[in-house]
Order: sequence, then structure tokens, then C-alpha cells
Amino acid sequence: MKRILVICCSLFFVAATVFTACKPDPSFEPGKSGEISFEVPKGWPAPAYNFAGNPLTKQGFELGKKLFFDQRLSRDNSTSCGSCHQPFAAFAHLDHDLSHGVNNQLGNRNSPPIFNMNWHTSFFWDGGVNHIEVQPVNPIQNPVEMDETIDNVVAKLKADATYQSMFKAAFGDETINSQRMLKALAQFMGMLVSSNSKFDKYSRGEAGGAMTESEIAGLNIYKDKCAGCHTEPLFSDFSLRNNGLAPTALNDSGRARITHLPGDMRKFKVPSLRNLKYTPPYMHDGRFTTLDQVLDHYATGVQPSPTLDPLLQNGIQMTPQQRTDLLAFLNTLNDEEFVKDLRFQELK
Ligand code: HEC
Ligand code: HEC
Repeated sequence: MKRILVICCSLFFVAATVFTACKPDPSFEPGKSGEISFEVPKGWPAPAYNFAGNPLTKQGFELGKKLFFDQRLSRDNSTSCGSCHQPFAAFAHLDHDLSHGVNNQLGNRNSPPIFNMNWHTSFFWDGGVNHIEVQPVNPIQNPVEMDETIDNVVAKLKADATYQSMFKAAFGDETINSQRMLKALAQFMGMLVSSNSKFDKYSRGEAGGAMTESEIAGLNIYKDKCAGCHTEPLFSDFSLRNNGLAPTALNDSGRARITHLPGDMRKFKVPSLRNLKYTPPYMHDGRFTTLDQVLDHYATGVQPSPTLDPLLQNGIQMTPQQRTDLLAFLNTLNDEEFVKDLRFQELK
């Protein structure tokens, strides 16, 4: 019965979404009927970004979603944010080590997944941008990503009647400018919260959260060996660290690219361990395709260097049983409800 109810509710939601996407209510006033709330999952810390100065509304969220999946944000109208951040891949780019932009140009880093962004204190692998309302300027203007100018994008949006009414519905009048576009994108991305994995249900004592003995053993191994950097409940402390990856021909200096400090060489933002099932390949350059390869790296591949994190001076060794248990635990961090959430999918 509960399931039928859930299906009915989802269908209703889809119908409602389609309806508002095609026909925004022109009489809508921001902050009134369309208000939606941002829920901080039980037991999680306060987010770094809480939509202060960007009141969250259904209309703003829907506008942000339309923008996110709109190829017109790129120079040749070929590439949307969603091309490199796919919902079924937890908004990473499945099977791509390095990103591909307009004209199939190769970038130099792996597309990170997009979820729980409101807790991030910086963005990109090198933490080079510190605000989610500014971040999209970067891919839009990056020559190997969307290669477009913000002015051109705004001009394209202004010429489109659907956008005219959607901006009005979201912000109260028809003005279309880059600030509003960025605020709407921040509303969509900020709502991408992933907090319903088996482990989350276990933590909250909910149905569907029964963990096996092996998974619990893996949780304890994780706490012992990984939590120093991949800290609960976001599974990252969002610091920038060098985890000992061997340098490659790409010669990516990581954080030092931003600060030019030798002490920041090859430091990268600690990624979350949530949703790994959906986001291979792994690391800032997508060099590993499996979690076994990641664990091999921590066991025997860690490269000594002056900036290597002190926690990894001796690598991380495990018995075969410990490895099996840890992998079982990591698997409980996959949130299928999130990747299948219809609110976040492009509706065609
Ligand atoms: C061509 C592929 C591509 C496109 C198109 C693209 N991105 Fe990205 N995105 C990336 C890559 C690669 C990175 C990591 C870049 C880096 O660290 O230097 C990234 C990083 C991000 C991050 C930071 C995530 C984190 O954990 O720090 C966000 C947020 C994001 N993109 C949102 C967007 C939005 C919004 C758009 C559309 C306006 C967009 N992206 C378009 C490939 C892409
Ligand atoms: C000293 C801090 C530190 C410790 C301890 C650590 N990691 Fe990492 N981990 C990182 C950093 C930093 C990265 C990103 C490195 C990069 O891409 O250049 C990373 C990347 C990863 C990735 C890739 C994720 C992705 O989305 O690409 C996985 C998986 C991972 N670590 C698993 C683990 C596991 C499992 C453990 C414990 C056995 C562990 N890590 C211990 C810092 C750490």
C-alpha cells in the first residue's frame, strides 16, 4: 500500500513538474506559493550554503534545472551541464576519465559528481572557486568545456519566450541576467541532496537499514583507515590533500595551480565516498576504473613526496578479508533513490 502511495505521489509530482515546466504561472510571486524547503538530513552539520540571498522556490528550482540540461549554454549548442554531469551517474560523467566538451575537446580533469554541494566549502578538484553561485561561469567560459560567453548565453535566453516566463515566475519580473541565471542554477544544484543510502537508513534506524556483519566490519575498517579524510556524514572533510598518486604526463599540480605554493603541490579536494557505484572512473584524472585499483593504490602505490599527507606515510594495508568487508561497506553508501529521483531528471 505504502509503495502504491509512493508511486501515486511520484506520478503526481511528475505531472505537476511537466505542467509547471510548460506553463509557469505568471501570477506567481516569489517566496509565496512556490516556496520549497531545503531539509538538512538528520544528524548532518549545518550546510555552508543555505540559500541566504537566494530564496528557494519551485519556480527557481525548475528554471535552474532547465538551464542545467540546456545545450544552448555552450557555443555550438551541443553541450549542457548535464552532458558531463549525468543524473544516472550521480551527476558525474560515467566512463569518461577526462571530460569532453564542445567539438569533443578533451579536458584535463575528471567530472566530479554533483550532490550535497551545499556542504562543500570550495569547488573543483583544486578548490579554486569558493561559491556555488559563481562556479558555473567557469565551465560556460572554459574553451574545452562549453566555450561560450556569459553575455551570449544571456542573449540566447532573452530571445526565448519560455525563459521569459520562467524567469518572471522565478524572480517576479522578466529581467534575464547572469546573476539570476546563476542563482537558479544554484537552486537546482543545491537541492541535489543524497542522504538515503542503506548506511543513512542504518544511521537513522530506519527500515531498509539493516547492515550485514561484513558491512559493519567494513564500517569499522573505514573509521580506522579512511575517516581521517573521508569524514562522515558527507564522507569528505573538504580539505585539500595529497593522497600519493603518481604524477602523470598531465602534470597536474592541483592546489598549487591556484596558490603557486610548493607546499600545495598535488593536493586535491578530498572527494566523497558516497555513490561510488555510479561514478567510475575515480580520482581527479579518472585513472582508476575499479575500487580494487583504488585500494591497491593505498596499499602499495602511494608515492613519497614532501606534500604527501602524513596519514598516508605508510600507505594503508589490509588483509583480503578486511578488503572484502570495506568494499561491502562502501557499497552501502550508494543511494539509488537519489540517482533515480524524478525531480532531478531531465523531462523530455
Ligand atoms: C565538458 C564537461 C563539463 C561541462 C559541460 C560542465 N562541467 Fe562541471 N565539471 C567538469 C569538470 C571536469 C569539473 C572539475 C574541474 C576541475 O576540478 O578543474 C567540473 C566541476 C564542477 C563542479 C564542482 C564540483 C566539486 O565537487 O567541486 C560543479 C558544481 C559543476 N562542475 C557544475 C557544472 C555546471 C552548473 C555546468 C553547466 C553550466 C557544468 N558543470 C558544465 C566538467 C563539466
Ligand atoms: C590522507 C587523506 C586520505 C585518506 C586517509 C584516504 N583518502 Fe581517499 N582520497 C583522498 C584524496 C585527497 C583523494 C583525491 C585524490 C585525487 O584525485 O587526486 C581521494 C580519493 C579517493 C577515491 C576516489 C573518489 C572519486 O570520486 O574519484 C576513493 C574511492 C577513495 N579515496 C577511497 C579511500 C578509502 C577507501 C580510504 C581508506 C582505505 C581512503 N580513501 C583513505 C584522501 C584520502
